[in-house]
Amino acid sequence: MKQIVVLTGAGMSAESGLKTFRDADGLWEGHDVMEVASPEGWYKNKELVLEFYNQRRRQLLQVLPNKAHKLLFELENNYHVDIVTQNVDDLHERAGSKNVLHLHGELLKVKSVSDDNLVYNWKKDLHIGDTCASGNQLRPNIVWYGEAVPMLDQAIEITKTAEILVIIGTSMQVYPAASLVHYIMPATPVYFIDPKPTISKNSFNNLTIISEKASVGVEKLVKLLD
Ligand SMILES: NC(=O)c1ccc[n+]([C@@H]2O[C@H](COP(=O)([O-])OP(=O)(O)OC[C@H]3O[C@@H](n4cnc5c(N)ncnc54)[C@H](O)[C@@H]3O)[C@@H](O)[C@H]2O)c1
Repeated sequence: MKQIVVLTGAGMSAESGLKTFRDADGLWEGHDVMEVASPEGWYKNKELVLEFYNQRRRQLLQVLPNKAHKLLFELENNYHVDIVTQNVDDLHERAGSKNVLHLHGELLKVKSVSDDNLVYNWKKDLHIGDTCASGNQLRPNIVWYGEAVPMLDQAIEITKTAEILVIIGTSMQVYPAASLVHYIMPATPVYFIDPKPTISKNSFNNLTIISEKASVGVEKLVKLLD
């Protein structure tokens, strides 16, 4: 089976009801991203950061995978599909996708502030005083701005294997995630699905831009691949 690598961003989950942040006003659900998604924000106001992710977690538990998530899962009938997502939601997994790598962490996991290896599944609210097995505070298992991206090397290795690359719903503004596309072989077909695509026509030798929201875009992709 041919190997498809899919890079997804916040736009992938927009039709499930989860807001992207660059679409609106540079704010993420009304917050300056540095206040809620950076180590500086955490040291400044831990309660605010925890409450922000508590809200995101509660919201995530109330939404469902959309048609685009489901179509990507169905592609596994005919292709080997690897998904590298910037999203912290679990909607790809809930749609059934088997190979999902989260570049920026996962909302339904928390980790110790003192040991990145102490990671726990977490579906409820997280509070000051919730601690790991060593007694240290837990924090969201999210890669914040300015932090290292532990899954980057693995994501690069996956991207290199692409025989077809699909990019869905990302503004390509967040690095190093946006740099993954540079690891494909030069002739690899690239499909870019986004209602407001931020990619220039000359970025790749073999680029197809599908200016659609994810559900319609992935449906068109499936037909083009047939
Ligand atoms: N669902 C989530 O997990 C979630 C949500 C918001 C932000 N984030 C985090 O914020 C960062 C944002 O970077 P990013 O590039 O992923 O997102 P972004 O907000 O910077 O860009 C979103 C992109 O999605 C496109 N889009 C909007 N509606 C769409 C739709 N229906 N279908 C397809 N595309 C659509 C927009 O045109 C835009 O290009 C990431 O690091 C991510 O971890 C995650």
